[in-house]
Amino acid sequence: MDKIIIAIDGYSSSGKSSMAKALASKIGYRYIDSGAMYRAVTLWAMRNGLVANGDVDREALIADLPKINVDFRVMPDGKQHTLLNGEDVEELIRRMDVSSNVSQVSVIPEVRHKLVDLQQELGNGKGIVMDGRDIGTTVFPHAEMKVFVTASVETRAQRRLQELAAKGIPANYEEVFANVAQRDHIDETREESPLRKAADAVTLDNSTMSVEAQNQWLLDLYHSKINA
Ligand code: DC
Repeated sequence: MDKIIIAIDGYSSSGKSSMAKALASKIGYRYIDSGAMYRAVTLWAMRNGLVANGDVDREALIADLPKINVDFRVMPDGKQHTLLNGEDVEELIRRMDVSSNVSQVSVIPEVRHKLVDLQQELGNGKGIVMDGRDIGTTVFPHAEMKVFVTASVETRAQRRLQELAAKGIPANYEEVFANVAQRDHIDETREESPLRKAADAVTLDNSTMSVEAQNQWLLDLYHSKINA
């Protein structure tokens, strides 16, 4: 059976990464977290004094883009980690300070072009599940299966808080809620490939769905696509 490309887009903390990961592992596809790539570039910019409190030195970051290499590697624990110039930054890129700056870095067209090129290369061989904001619209407009995931801001802020707590990363609900709402706004209103449902994507509002139910929903959709 031919392998396909599966694009899963949606709002911050909508649970799309967990769904995408679970599906990829179930069907033996490669999973790519495109948000991790934007987070890694943001971490690089922060470390080099090119972004602070949402203010980005665009010119300097654009000039430095060739120095930034983002990659993924499966670790001995079986989990895929994000590498920034060879360094494992998987945990660092999930921290609140990175979350607070990542949308501002993601609006820069040159950053997007670099990462979209890389994402398209990774999808070359098909057999891939990629999650993000513009995967079904810009990165893989011809993806055979497209899903757009959404949930209320309150639900997503709660989920993010739990995720951070599980990793021992300090945060409070108000801070997380404000960050989720602000990222929604920036992601939806940026000029270059804003967060938007592709015309041929299937919408999933998982506000009241269990993890098991959404994973099953996604698997059923996959089977319906490949058997079509
Ligand atoms: O999925 P995430 O929350 O880890 O993504 C982090 C940020 O990266 C998000 O606020 C917007 C940006 N992003 C993007 O602009 N395009 C993508 N394809 C994925 C993420």
